[in-house]
Amino acid sequence: MRHLLFLTPFLLFMACQPETTEHTAQVASDTLTGEQHRPRYHFTPPEQWMNDPNGMVYYDGEYHLFYQHYPDSNVWGPMHWGHAVSEDLVHWEHLPIALYPDSLGMIFSGSAVADLENTSGFGTAEDSPLIAIFTYHDAEAAEAGANDHQTQGIAFSTDRGRSWEKYEGNPVVENPGIKDFRDPKVFWYAPDQKWVMIFAAADRVRIYNSPDLKNWEFQSEFGENSGDHGGVWECPDLFPLMVNGEEKWVMLLSINPGGPNGGSATQYFVGDFDGETFANDNPEETTLWVDYGKDNYAGVSWSNVPENDGRRIFLGWMSNWQYANVVPTYSWRSAMTVARKLELADTPEGIRLISLPVEELHQLRADSYSLEPRSIPNELSLTEFTEWQTPAKEVMLEFVIPEGAEGLDFGIVISNSLGEEVRIGYDQAQQQYYFDRTKAGKMDFSEDFAGRFPAPRIAGSDTIKMHLYVDVASAELFADDGKTVMTNIFFPNENFQQLGLYSENGEVQLVSGTLYNLSPATIAME
Ligand code: FRU
Repeated sequence: MRHLLFLTPFLLFMACQPETTEHTAQVASDTLTGEQHRPRYHFTPPEQWMNDPNGMVYYDGEYHLFYQHYPDSNVWGPMHWGHAVSEDLVHWEHLPIALYPDSLGMIFSGSAVADLENTSGFGTAEDSPLIAIFTYHDAEAAEAGANDHQTQGIAFSTDRGRSWEKYEGNPVVENPGIKDFRDPKVFWYAPDQKWVMIFAAADRVRIYNSPDLKNWEFQSEFGENSGDHGGVWECPDLFPLMVNGEEKWVMLLSINPGGPNGGSATQYFVGDFDGETFANDNPEETTLWVDYGKDNYAGVSWSNVPENDGRRIFLGWMSNWQYANVVPTYSWRSAMTVARKLELADTPEGIRLISLPVEELHQLRADSYSLEPRSIPNELSLTEFTEWQTPAKEVMLEFVIPEGAEGLDFGIVISNSLGEEVRIGYDQAQQQYYFDRTKAGKMDFSEDFAGRFPAPRIAGSDTIKMHLYVDVASAELFADDGKTVMTNIFFPNENFQQLGLYSENGEVQLVSGTLYNLSPATIAME
C-alpha cells in the first residue's frame, strides 16, 4: 500500500513508479480482446445474447450460473440456458449450453436445487441429483392468443450439471389461464421437510409445495396491493436472513417497467413465512428497492450455499429492458453484476436489505494507494498518482461534511481524454446519492439511457461512505456499507481511465480513501 501525500503531482508521480512490470503485461493482454466495452471482471457470455441469471446453485465445490441465452443472435430470441461454473464467484469457466428449447417451448428463467435426499428419485441419496426448475414458454401458443402458454418444467443432472435430461412428465405446474406465469424459484423448507416454489403470476406471486419436485400443490398468493405495480412481476426469490437475533424472510421481486429510475428494477419485501404463506411486515404501500440504479434486474440468490459459509449470495443482470437489445456491444450483449452478499440491517428507516460485494473480489486487487485526509477542492485529479492505467478500479472513500456547509455536491468522476465522464456523488441538500451518465459517451441508441439518477440516503451516520466497483462498462456503488446501492452501465468512446474527486459549493473533507487497480478475471472456455 502506498500513501499519496498530496505533494506536487510531479513528486507523487515519481513516488509511484511501478514496482514490477507485471501490471504492464496484464494491461497489454487485456486490451487485446479487441472488443470495445467488454468488461474485465464481470461475467459476460462468450458471445451473443444474455439476460437473467438462472439456476444458481452451489454444488460440490462449484457455483453454477445458468443464464437466459440466445446463441444465434445478440438480441433476445428463443431462450436457452447458457451455463458457467466458478469456484470463487470471480473466475468463471464457460460450459456448453445446458437446456435447449423443445416441443413444450422455450426455456425461460428459473432456479436449480441440489436434491440432497433424492426426493425426486432422479439420482441416489449418495449421489444426489441437481434439479433445474424453469418456465416453458410456448411461443406459438402465445402468438395464437393463448393465455396458458407458460408452464413450469423440470430437468435433472446426475453428473455435476454437465448434462441435463428433461423430465418426461413435464410440465409439473400447469397454467390455469394467467398470461404471465413464470420464473420459479425453489427451495427446501426444512421445518416441514418439503419443497417450496415461488413464481410470478401477472403482478402477484404464487406459492406451491411439493414432497418430490414433481407434484406441486398451490398454497397461496401474495402481492395484491403490496409494493409497486407499475409493471409485470418477474423472477421472485424468498429466503430467510437474521436481524436483531430474529429470523425474517425476504422476498425479492423484479418489476418491469416501474423501477425507481425508469424501466426494470427489483423491489423486496420483509416479513414472515410459514412454508405456505408470506406475511408482509410493512404497510402495503411501502416499496423497497434492492438497487436504485437502472441496471440490476432479475437478480436472485444461490441455493445450497454451505451452512458453514452462511451467506445469501446474489447476482443480477446488469441491463434494463428499456435498452437491453440495443446497447452498443458486439458480438455479445450484457453482463452480470458482481456477486453480492445480502444482509438485513436495522436502520433509522426500519429493517432494510443491504448488499455488499463478496470478499472473493479482493483477489483482483493488483495495486493499491491510500489517500491522506484532506479537503477536496472543486476538481482533484487522482489519475497521475496511479501509474497503471486501467478502467477496472475499486475505490473506497469516506467523507465528512464540515459543520456549517450547505448544498455540498461531491463525489467521484471517472473520465477519458474525449471529455466523456460519469459522476457518482452525494447531494447534501437532497440527501441523495446520484449517478450521472448524461455525458457518458454513446447514448443515442435509446432515449431512456442518458440521465442523472438519484437514490435516497438511508444511513444516518455522519460519515458518507462510498465503495465503488468500476469496470469498462459499469460502476456499482455500495454506499454506507451497502445501505444505498446503485448499478449503472455506460459505453464511453474511449475507456474511462482517469479518476478524480470533486466538491461543489464548498470543500468536503476526505477522511480516508483507498484506490485499487483491478486485474482482469480470467474466464476460461471449456
Ligand atoms: C425477466 C424475464 C423473465 C423471463 C425471461 C425471458 O427479464 O422477462 O420473466 O422468464 O426474462 O427471457
